[in-house]
This record gives sequence, structure tokens and C-alpha cells, in this order.
Amino acid sequence: MDRYSQNRERLLTSSRPMPDFAVVESQGPWLHRADGTRIFDGSSGLLCANVGQSSPKVRARIEEQFSRYSFGGAAVVRPHIQMELMDRLCRAVGRPNDSVALTTCGTLGVEVAIGLARNITRVRDGKQRGDILTSTLSYHGNSALTLALAGNHARRPRPQDALGLGPAFPPPYPPTHSHEGRGCDASCADEVAKEIDSRGAETVAAVLIEPVNGSTGGAFVPPDGYLQRVLEVCRDRDVLVIHDEVLTGLWRTGTPLASHHWERCEPDMVILSKGLGAGYTGVGAVLVSPEIAPWIRHEDTDPLPAMGTMATHPLMAAACLGVLDELESIGLTAFIARGERLGAAMKALNGVGPVRDVRGLGFLYGVEVAQGQLWPVMKAAEERGAFFYPFTGAGHPKSEGLVVAPPLNSTDEEIDFLIEALSSALPALG
Ligand SMILES: Cc1ncc(COP(=O)(O)O)c(C=O)c1O
Repeated sequence: MDRYSQNRERLLTSSRPMPDFAVVESQGPWLHRADGTRIFDGSSGLLCANVGQSSPKVRARIEEQFSRYSFGGAAVVRPHIQMELMDRLCRAVGRPNDSVALTTCGTLGVEVAIGLARNITRVRDGKQRGDILTSTLSYHGNSALTLALAGNHARRPRPQDALGLGPAFPPPYPPTHSHEGRGCDASCADEVAKEIDSRGAETVAAVLIEPVNGSTGGAFVPPDGYLQRVLEVCRDRDVLVIHDEVLTGLWRTGTPLASHHWERCEPDMVILSKGLGAGYTGVGAVLVSPEIAPWIRHEDTDPLPAMGTMATHPLMAAACLGVLDELESIGLTAFIARGERLGAAMKALNGVGPVRDVRGLGFLYGVEVAQGQLWPVMKAAEERGAFFYPFTGAGHPKSEGLVVAPPLNSTDEEIDFLIEALSSALPALG
């Protein structure tokens, strides 16, 4: 027992029990424990350490910037490194002409995107657009506003604390329709149309949506045509579409953006965060399409949403450039093949032991298990040298499971290790 073991409850972090292994070293996806054993991080930290730990490329970028100057917000020093990041990032996700707002985390990225959407639609349409519509199975951050808007049941504030807000439409998640005896298809987007029309389109600024769900519903994937239909519904009504790719952005689902799995669903704004800082720095980035960005500079528009003291921190930008260096050094063909192998192995687990469903794409899978089996599975996997991210928020009917999301630069052997650890943990349970 070390001197910090006794007063752990004073550190207010998660409502889940804290892991009780001390890590003394890390390398890529491996955490080395004080007792000499190592464990594979099958959750990439909190679904963010996408290029593993201890990256020499990230370190080199931070050191280089540190030796130049360690602080200079955009209003103080010419924001060279931030502009370099903007260019690299926009090209990396196939939106080379977007404008970018940087923030310090995903939540603030969502807040800034909401502020921009309201500014843009109001100055463009001269109406009192302000509403932001989200799905009843979603998570968009931990501020009072984003918690009030989103549909993560486990994290919803009490009604009296919800600022009068709430999620607005059902997600394309099959159990939502179980009483109707049907699955999901593109027509699930009609729920979005219904909601906009019932409020009156002139009051709605944007639909905010995770194109592939993250941890709330355990990586559920929308049916083909859904995102395109949402975009059409919104375009018909002059409502903006914001994709929250905080978790899925930058190759987590096997493509630069999760929305790239489908055609004709390019949103007006994209929010990135976890995979951009990759656990080396807090960061958020809001990408705004060139079609709507000019409204932000319009003479009648409201001022930009406040970005905060640390929003353009040069060391943050340097770390992100190092992450992009890492991502660009991954061989694409082998990466895609590894993602497919991981996906096939995960889907083969459907029905094994306590597993009730498997879904996902690329390097992101939700393995749903029978109620009460989540923690036994987590424990059995940990005994076999791997841990995963638990999800417990998938609404009605309630579901729980593991999110499997290894670092994107894991090797073939490491992916095999992960598959074996989870596969061998399941049959004995359930
Ligand atoms: C989809 C999504 N949006 C927003 C956030 C909030 O990001 P952060 O925790 O960096 O504030 C998260 C975090 O898990 C997320 O998964």
C-alpha cells in the first residue's frame, strides 16, 4: 500500500470504482504494473489513447515547441502552430477548406459548435433559431448545457436541473422499435423531421448527432441511408447538421470520419477531440464548412463564442501534430485489414456465453452482454491480461456491455492477443 492508497476517495473522478493497479511504465497499448505484469489497454484509455502511450513522435513535437515558446494564445503570438494544425487536420479528414475553432476538450467543442450554429442560423435567416436537437441515446459532454441536452440515461440531470432541455428524437437503435416488431432503416430519420416540424423549423438551429454511437449505446451503427436522410430533412428546413465525432473521429471506425462510411451525409460542422489529442493533451476542434463559415464573420452576427484561455495552447497544438504524425505513419492497407479481422472476431462472439449482440466498425465494437454479466466479463478479461471500457447507458430496454477499442497502431500480434483474451473469457460465463 502506498501513501496515496488511503485517501483515494478525496480525488473526485468517476462514479465507478477506480482500478487498483499501479502503473509504472507504458508502451503502446501496454500498461506495465508494479508487480511486473503487463495489461493490454483494449479501451485506449477513455477511448482516446488512439496511438498508444509513450509516442516518440508526440514527444518530439512537444519538445520542439517547448523550446520555442510554451504559451502564446492566438491573441498574443502569431498562431503559426495552430494554423499548421488546422491545415493538417482539415486535410486529414477530407474537409480541406473548413474553418476551425480549437477548444480544450470535447465538451467545450460541443458548446462552441452550438454557439456557432445559433449565430449562423440567426444572422442567415433573421429568425430566433436556437434549439439544438439530440437523440435519446447520446452523450455530448459533461457541462450543464450538454448534459441537459443529451440522452444518456445514466447521466441525465434531475428534471429541475435540466435547464428546461432534453433529448428530442429516438435513435436508430433497433430495441427502440421492439414493440413495433421492426428493425431500423433510413426512415428512422422521419422522427427527426417530425420533431423539427412539431417545434416549428424557425425555432431550430441544428441537429446534433453522433454518426456512429460511442459509449452510450455501445457503438451502435445507423442503418444505411439514415445519415443522408437526416441531412435531407435538415436541409429542407434550413436546419444545420452537426456531427459529434469526439469519439469516432480520426480513424476510430476505420475511416477518417465515421460519416465516411456512407455517401452524401457531409454535415455542416464536425466536432473532434479524443482521437486528436489521443490522450496526450486535452483538445477539441470544431470544423465549420466553407458554405456556412462566412456567416460567422458577417457584420450583423453575434461575436464568436468565447474560446477560453487555453484554447489555442501551442503545446496542445504540438501534441496534436505529433498524433497526426503517428496516424499518418500507420500503413493504411494493413490497418484496414486489422480492423476487419478484429470486427470478424468480435462478431463471431455473438451468442457465445453471455454475449447478446455485437456491433461496430473498424476499431470500435460494442459487445453487449446479458444483464448482470458486465463486471464478471470485465474481471475474466482482466485476468487474461486485457481490459475494456464498460457501457451501461443504453436506455430502454436497458443494456450493458463492453466497448472494444484498441489503439489504432496496435500490431497484428497485439490484436490477436486482445481477441484471444476476450474470446477465452466468455464461454465460462453467462
Ligand atoms: C460523443 C462524445 N461527445 C462529447 C464528449 C465529451 O468530451 P470530453 O469528455 O472531452 O469533454 C464525449 C466524451 O466521452 C463523447 O464521447
